[in-house]
Amino acid sequence: MQELKVPDIGDYRNIPVIEVLVCAGEVVAVDQPLVTLESDKATMDVPSVFAGTIREVLLKPGDRVSHGSVIAHLEFDAPASNASASVLAATHTGTAISDAATAFSTPARPQTPKQRTESTASEANAGALLADRSEVTVDRARAGKAAAGPSVRKLARELGVDLSKVAGRGRNARVVREDVLAHVKTTLSKPAQAAAPVEARGTQPDILPWPQVDFAKFGPVERRPLSRIRKISGANLHRNWVMIPHVTNFDQTDVTELEVLRTALNRESKAGAAKVTMLAFLVKACVAALQQFPQFNVSLDGQELVQKRYFHIGFAADTPNGLVVPVIRDADRKGVAAIATEMAELAGLAREGKLTPAQMQGGSMSISSLGGIGGSHFTPIINAPEVAILGVGRASTQPVWNGSAFEPRLILPMSLSWDHRAVDGAEAGRFLAWLATLMADFRRVLL
Ligand code: COA
Repeated sequence: MQELKVPDIGDYRNIPVIEVLVCAGEVVAVDQPLVTLESDKATMDVPSVFAGTIREVLLKPGDRVSHGSVIAHLEFDAPASNASASVLAATHTGTAISDAATAFSTPARPQTPKQRTESTASEANAGALLADRSEVTVDRARAGKAAAGPSVRKLARELGVDLSKVAGRGRNARVVREDVLAHVKTTLSKPAQAAAPVEARGTQPDILPWPQVDFAKFGPVERRPLSRIRKISGANLHRNWVMIPHVTNFDQTDVTELEVLRTALNRESKAGAAKVTMLAFLVKACVAALQQFPQFNVSLDGQELVQKRYFHIGFAADTPNGLVVPVIRDADRKGVAAIATEMAELAGLAREGKLTPAQMQGGSMSISSLGGIGGSHFTPIINAPEVAILGVGRASTQPVWNGSAFEPRLILPMSLSWDHRAVDGAEAGRFLAWLATLMADFRRVLL
């Protein structure tokens, strides 16, 4: 067993260890760096003077050492080379030691103060940019084994460069200062995406952390926990927004005649019967459009499209605790009045927080109606794994040219968000145009 000690490093005492480059059980070669020390002027690596197996490392980063401090215990494999033995035994005449002493007393390369300021600033900038590009996951153990001098190691550390990834063009493939700077330059010239680690490419958008703001600085505030529904719907909406390539088409339809029918039906309805709503007509029209364009009644499952032979329509319901989407099952087999009744029941359950998971599953597509609230067009988020959602705004009376004069017509704004992985723009245009035709002349739903 051999003690590996800090050699004579000149007049320096209590120098901090900034890196331990070996661990117990590691086989080391002669001249392999064991630890890196740093003074206020420079850094230096202390090399092993024997080949063998490290049995115990006695230092850790932050420890302070002087001449003679024991770094590690090594199980001796072979006699030291003459050169190394002389290093161990030498005082100021040993090459490595005098190099080390020089390294402590002078910067790696003479620079004027101006040069030093400029290079430090640009290197710091480069470091920050590399950090932005997630390039700084440095494998310290491997970086420690890369052949490089103390000043180059220090530069690499400051710039966040993993030395094990830098091709050395010095003698015996030693990494020199210019190699580190060239590596930084090449990395910065690559597009940010390409600079990301391979495993992150295509799976994680490069998104800034959420801003941490002390809102109380700007005025009185209070904090409330998110409701359970908002937490769940928020997570689902976020996933759908991020993962689905949404496109939204806008159109409008003339529902003047339909509104006449709807109000007449409600006038005639028995006391206590559910009100026939525009939304109930829209559910029926969506079923007819899905029957005409079955490519919208699908879900994506890996590399397959699941074609649905049922017609279940979801509708967004606003509740005190947040948004839920109950589903009207088999809407193709129900009349508008039955759909309106069921919607009223489901909306009531939703507001009371009594919907079961089964009542919110299995939709073919969904409708989000803000018609009772206001606004025209908006871009609803698709309710995955469905591939389309209809957004409905508030109908308003508008002057429409009938060929000879303007006449007041009730115009309903509609938006259709659709998943571009499952359907194409032309199909979406036809689907929405057909929906508009159906709502303008509801007799066609019967065909
Ligand atoms: N244009 C004009 N008026 C409309 C309309 C439209 N598109 N849709 C509804 N209205 C009118 C109704 O006729 C009703 O008027 P009335 O009381 O004079 O008869 C009024 O607006 C209120 O309708 P509402 O009670 O909202 O019924 P609804 O069938 O339209 O909607 C729900 C039922 C459950 C969908 C609705 O209460 C709801 O929750 N909407 C919000 C959905 C949502 O949050 N979407 C956003 C998701 S991101």
